[in-house]
Amino acid sequence: MPYSHFFFFLLISLAFAAMAVPTLRPGFYTETCPQAESIVKDVMKKAMKREPRSVASVMRLQFHDCFVNGCDASLLLDDTPNMLGEKLALSNINSLRSYEVVDEVKEALERACPGVVSCADLLIMAARDAVVLTGGPNWEVKLGRLDSLTASQEDSNQIMPSPRSNATYLIDLFSRYNLSMKDLVALSGSHSIGKGRCFSVVFRLYNQSGSGRPDPTIEPRFREKLDKLCPLGGDGNVTGDLDATPEVFDNQYFKDLVNGRGFLNSDQTLFTNPFTREYVREFSVSQKKFFMAFVEGMIKMGDLQSGQPGEIRQDCRVINSRRPRVEVLFETSNGGE
Ligand code: HEM
Ligand SMILES: *[C@@H]1O[C@H](CO)[C@@H](O)[C@H](O)[C@H]1NC(C)=O
Ligand SMILES: *[C@@H]1O[C@H](CO)[C@@H](O)[C@H](O)[C@H]1NC(C)=O
Ligand SMILES: *[C@@H]1O[C@H](CO)[C@@H](O)[C@H](O)[C@H]1NC(C)=O
Ligand SMILES: *[C@@H]1O[C@H](CO)[C@@H](O)[C@H](O)[C@H]1NC(C)=O
Repeated sequence: MPYSHFFFFLLISLAFAAMAVPTLRPGFYTETCPQAESIVKDVMKKAMKREPRSVASVMRLQFHDCFVNGCDASLLLDDTPNMLGEKLALSNINSLRSYEVVDEVKEALERACPGVVSCADLLIMAARDAVVLTGGPNWEVKLGRLDSLTASQEDSNQIMPSPRSNATYLIDLFSRYNLSMKDLVALSGSHSIGKGRCFSVVFRLYNQSGSGRPDPTIEPRFREKLDKLCPLGGDGNVTGDLDATPEVFDNQYFKDLVNGRGFLNSDQTLFTNPFTREYVREFSVSQKKFFMAFVEGMIKMGDLQSGQPGEIRQDCRVINSRRPRVEVLFETSNGGE
C-alpha cells in the first residue's frame, strides 16, 4: 500500500483547497459553459411569467447569501442531521422563497454543462437578471465563486438585520462589509420589487419601540391602508407591496420614502436619519443615479468571499458526496506505483 503517495496527494489537494479565494472575473465561463448566462436568464424569464414576484424573491437570496460568510451558496443548503442550515434562520424562515426556481436554473445548467457552474455564481447571475427583467439596470457580473461545504444558522441569526432596524444600526452593519451609507441606501432600493409580510410591520403599526403607539413617521393615509391589511392579531403571513410599483424596478421606492410611505421600518428609517436622507432624496429625483449606485453596491456585495474551501455543487441543496474523491485518490496513487 503506497501510503506515502496517498499522503502526498492528500497534501496537494489540501494545499489547493487552502488557496480558496478565487479571483472573480467577467466571462469566467466563456470557455467552459458559454451558454451559462443565457440559460439562467431564460429560466428566470419563465419563472417571472408564472409568478412575477418570484424574481424578486430570488434576487433577495443574494443578500442573504453574501452577508453570511460570503457569496458561497451556503444559504441554499438544506438542514442535515449534523448541520442546521440557514434556511430556518430568524430572517429566513417563512420568508425566503422561490428556492424551486434556483433548483430549476441549476438543473438546466447541469444538463448543459455538468459540474461547471457554481450555485454561488447562479445566485449572482439570477439576481442581476431579476433586476433587468423588471426594468432595472443591466451590468456585467463577476463570476468564479465556489460553493461552501457547510452553512451556519447561528451566523445568519447573528448577522441578518431585522425589519425593525434603525438607520444607525444598518449603517454600522453595512460598514463592516465596507459598504458605505450610499451603498446601504442604494441596495435597500432592491425593495423596489417584491413583498413583505404583516409579521414584519405589525410592531410599527401598533407598538413602535414598545411605545404602545404607531410609528409617527408613517403617512396617515398609508397607515390606514396598512392597518386594514394587517389588523392587530391578524394573519402575519398576509403580504403587502414593498413599494407602490412592486413589479417594476424603478425609483418609486425612494419617492415613497420621501412621502412617508415606506413599508418596513428599516426602509422609512433611511429617510428619518439625516445621513442617509440625502441619498434617499437624490435617488427619488434621479433614477439614473439610483441605478448607477445600485449596480456599484451589487458588485461590491458580490465580491464578499469566505476564504473557505469550496466545490461546484451538483445539487444546490446538498454538498457533493466526499467519498468518490478519496477513491480516486487511492486509485491514482496505486496507479503511479
Ligand atoms: C438594509 C437592510 C435590509 C433589511 C432590514 C431587509 C429586510 C427585508 C424584509 C423584512 C423583507 C420582507 C420579508 C418578509 O416580510 O417576509 C424583505 C424583502 C425583500 N428584500 Fe430586503 N432587507 C434589507 C436589504 C435588502 C437587500 C440589500 C436586498 C437585495 C439586494 C434586499 C432584497 C429584498 C427583496 C427583493 C425583497 C422582496 C422579496 C419577496 O418578495 O419575496 N433586501 N427585506
Ligand atoms: C438603533 O438601534 C439600536 C439597536 O437596536 C439601539 O441600540 C439604538 O438605541 C437605536 N438608535 C436610535 C437612534 O434609535
Ligand atoms: C474592508 O476593507 C479593509 C481594508 O481594505 C480590508 O482589510 C477588509 O478585509 C475589508 N472587509 C471586508 C469584509 O471585505
Ligand atoms: C408594546 O411593547 C412593549 C415592549 O415590548 C410591551 O411591554 C407592551 O406590552 C406592548 N404593548 C402592547 C399594547 O402590545
Ligand atoms: C406563516 O405560515 C407558516 C407556514 O404555514 C407558519 O408556520 C407560521 O407560523 C405563519 N407565520 C405567521 C407569522 O403567522
